[in-house]
This record gives sequence, C-alpha cells and structure tokens, in this order.
Amino acid sequence: MTQKISAAITGVNGYVPDYVLTNQELEKLVDTNDEWITSRTGIKERRILKGEGLGTSYLGAKAVEGLLEKTNTKPEEIDLLICATVTPDYFFPNSANLICKSVGIRATASFDLSAACSGFLNALATATAFIESGRFKKIIVVGADKMSAIVDYTDRTTCILFGDGAGAVLLEPNTEGLGVQDFILKSDGDGCESLMQKGGGSAYPPTHETIDQKLHYIRQEGQSVFKFAVTRMADVSAEIMERNHLTGDDIAFLVPHQANKRIIDATANRMNIGEEKVMLNIQRYGNTTAATIPLCLWDYEKQLKKGDNLILAAFGGGFTWGSTYLKWAYNSK
Ligand SMILES: CC(C)(COP(=O)(O)OP(=O)(O)OC[C@H]1O[C@@H](n2cnc3c(N)ncnc32)[C@H](O)[C@@H]1OP(=O)(O)O)[C@@H](O)C(=O)NCCC(=O)NCCS
Repeated sequence: MTQKISAAITGVNGYVPDYVLTNQELEKLVDTNDEWITSRTGIKERRILKGEGLGTSYLGAKAVEGLLEKTNTKPEEIDLLICATVTPDYFFPNSANLICKSVGIRATASFDLSAACSGFLNALATATAFIESGRFKKIIVVGADKMSAIVDYTDRTTCILFGDGAGAVLLEPNTEGLGVQDFILKSDGDGCESLMQKGGGSAYPPTHETIDQKLHYIRQEGQSVFKFAVTRMADVSAEIMERNHLTGDDIAFLVPHQANKRIIDATANRMNIGEEKVMLNIQRYGNTTAATIPLCLWDYEKQLKKGDNLILAAFGGGFTWGSTYLKWAYNSK
C-alpha cells in the first residue's frame, strides 16, 4: 500500500535587520506617541533595513542561508524556492531568483508570489501541493518584505505599523501523518481600494505626478481594514477548526499574522484559546507583511513539539485571507 505523503515543515529560520525604529523615534517624525501606538496596535518597535541597494532579497537570503545551515541542506538539494512578497527588489527578475543567486541555489525552479499579508500562507499551500503530488522533495518557502521601502514616514496612520524582516521554512515529504493537514485560502477584490500601493505598476507607471501624489506609498483605510480583518481572520480560523473537529484544547498554538494585537486577541477569543497559546512578536517587529508567520515560528521554535497542532491565520490587502492547520513535525535540538 502506498503511504500518503504530507508536506511537513522540517526547519525554520528568520532574519531581521539590526536597526531598531522605536515608538519614541517615531514621535520625532510624526504627531504620535508611544501610548497611542501601544494601546491601539501592540507595537513597540520595528526593524528597518538600511543600506543602499539592499532590497527584500537581502533579507530573504539571510534567512535562507541560515536555514540551509541549520537543516544541513546543500543548495543543490533544493527543488523549488518560492518567495512571498509585495516589496520585490525589482518587478523582474523575481526576488526568489535573487535569493537563489545569493545562497548558491542554481538551475532550480523559483518564483515570487504576491498575496500581501496572506502571501506566506498562499506560498505554503502552493508548496504543499507540489510535495503531496510527489513532484518535489525539498522546497523552501520564504516570506520577506522590506516595508520601509513603501511606507510614507510623514503619514502617522501607516508608518507606525510596518517593519522589515524575512522568515523561511523548509518543506519536505512526511509519511507519519505530520505536516500540513488542511488549508483555506480566500480573496475578495472589493477590498482593493482599502489597502494598496496604487502607483508604480502598469496601471499608474511612475511619473513626476504619481510621485507628487505619493502613489508609490501604502495607502490604507485603517478602520475598514480593521473591521474586515477582525471578522474574516476569526471566521476562517473557526472554520478550519470546525471542519477538522478541533476545539481550543486541541490547539498548541495559534500563529496569527501580526498586524494589530487587537485583531489577534479577537481571533484567539473566537477560537477559545488563551493568550499563552498565541504566538506574538508584533511588539518587536511590527507588521512585516509576508514575514510575520515564519518569524513567529522561528521565535517559538524551541517551544514546539512533534505532533503539536498549530493553526496559522492571516489577513491582508486585496483582500486576501486564509488559515492553515498543521501538525508540527519535529522537536528542536
Ligand atoms: C490603523 C489603526 C491602528 C488605527 O486605529 P483606530 O483605532 O482605527 O484609529 P482611527 O483610525 O479611528 O483614528 C482615531 C484617531 O487617532 C488618530 N491617529 C491615527 N494614527 C495616529 C497615530 N499614529 N498617533 C496618534 N493618533 C493617531 C486619528 O487621526 C484619529 O483622530 P481623530 O479622532 O481626531 O480623527 C487601525 O485601524 C488598524 O490597525 N487597522 C488595521 C490595519 C491593518 O491591520 N493593516 C494591515 C493589514 S495586513
């Protein structure tokens, strides 16, 4: 009898740049204060990548370099590298390609995937299908964003939220029933105008006017995004638990996208999960878009045990949203 192949995360690594942008420092840039930012978002500081010509692939390559080392994997063993990002170094070549170049992965499939803050979950689901089909044996999924490249540091409603970072996981076949068990992915283009970077693409190519109008920066209707996020992230987490017959007691950790602590709390409440079971690093990194979930896994790796049930949940621009149910596949050394 052939055994069912599932896709398991067999290693995780993260990278955040050294420069720490604190709430106090933001107080000097815009009319805001630490108390407002902390109580409304849960964020205390975020990391910023400095250095001319350094883009998202720099962050991703650092995370992947460490992942290969940690998992004793040679670059030539990798079959596919997917990079989820909304801040690619260039429109082309893709950032996955550039990451491969930096870490010595050659003649391998690589592509970027764009689904904003749900990018990592979409990339993980894509990689899962390749592993389950038997097509590929070792896939790296990277979530990386240099959000500081598209943030307007004169806009107090957005500049307090975002930071730079990258996380990467290695995905391999598993025949013990561990790894990704189920996922739900959704999108709704009606959210387009609520959260977007309008300029710089093919609809509004960069001109002096688009720059003057600041169309190359993130624009967000905070409250409508908040409302949509609170219901949809909780809905999709509850839905995946229900259809897999899980209760809050069965879950070792919720791994939520780190956009706003209040959205995370609402999701945990709906799932009937106490805060000790919620991965949280928003206070240190802010919203790193595609990187938040792998960065959480990296931060909490030592607390995870083989067989632990995890629910990953994300929400982002588009709108896009989704959840993943996985069984953690290893005990860390
Ligand atoms: C952006 C966000 C933190 C704003 O919080 P909020 O509680 O909705 O605040 P509001 O937009 O209602 O603004 C309340 C007041 O605070 C002010 N304000 C906004 N940003 C501020 C800041 N950084 N510092 C101080 N005051 C600020 C507003 O101007 C407004 O003032 P007013 O009442 O005089 O008009 C919140 O809407 C949010 O997190 N939205 C979702 C964002 C998100 O998750 N994005 C990523 C999706 S992946």
